Amino acid sequence: MSAQGVPFDQRDGWIWYDGVFVPWADAKLHVLSHGLHYGSTVFEGERAYGGTIFKSAEHSERLRLSAEMLDFTIPYTIGEIDAAKKATLEKNNLVDAYIRPVAWRGSEMMGVAAQKNTIHLAIGVWEWPSYFDPEQRQKGLRLDLSEWRRPDPATIPCKAKAAGLYMICTISKHRAERRGFADALMLDYRGYVAECTGANVFFVKDGVIHTPTPDCFLDGLTRRTVIDIARRHGMEVVERHIKPEELSSFTECFITGTAAEVTPVGSIADWHFAPSGITHQLMDSYTAEVRPKQQAA
Ligand SMILES: Cc1ncc(COP(=O)(O)O)c(C=O)c1O
Repeated sequence: MSAQGVPFDQRDGWIWYDGVFVPWADAKLHVLSHGLHYGSTVFEGERAYGGTIFKSAEHSERLRLSAEMLDFTIPYTIGEIDAAKKATLEKNNLVDAYIRPVAWRGSEMMGVAAQKNTIHLAIGVWEWPSYFDPEQRQKGLRLDLSEWRRPDPATIPCKAKAAGLYMICTISKHRAERRGFADALMLDYRGYVAECTGANVFFVKDGVIHTPTPDCFLDGLTRRTVIDIARRHGMEVVERHIKPEELSSFTECFITGTAAEVTPVGSIADWHFAPSGITHQLMDSYTAEVRPKQQAA
């Protein structure tokens, strides 16, 4: 459900669909679509601030690369995708918004092989102020530990933002919410700390920032932005494998993602953190970083 409680297929507005704008409720696909049956779907999650999409070209490039990893080519250039996202924002009169491009294989072939299927691209935009409940965000999220692990890169294209890779994210997040948590932390196939169901994770110990090496999960654009900001502010950032038993030695924890932005974490299972100096500084710096430069004070 959206924040307003209106289901996402029944809202007002326009969806960019294969090069044209269609009324929101008419942006449909057939039940016999390869993307639906076999997960041959890739997507992006982006945010616009004050009318400017943060890192638009990087997101468009990742979308195209995700598709290539699933062995299909999106029939639009990065420039064309960027222009379509911008036009969709404008058509919907939005300046602060979440942007969701999605590309999938169509219906020409319905076996596992889909060599001749057309590739579709659609773009939806909507207002999505806070990914987590603002009160929980303020206090620091309570995270559960997932029973599912990020898989071995030899078993899946782990760098693709592909719909199928979110299957274990949804079941992990559902279990966490049923147990009263905001989200779940996932370990990887080796047992190292990996990421949350839609965000990367960072820790702080003795003034140094530690974050897992992204060798089997998405190296988020927000993750890279936050590392860059931290280093520009003279903070030390260490990317390394982190074991769960180390969590008791960290004093701060936060997660990063386009939707989550920089969100403090208060606990993961029985490990507790006190979001303070570094987390708050990076939250503020990230907010300043995403603001369109001409509007920055
Ligand atoms: C599983 C997962 N990890 C990490 C991220 C963070 O990526 P980004 O910062 O590019 O949004 C996301 C969000 O897209 C995600 O879904």
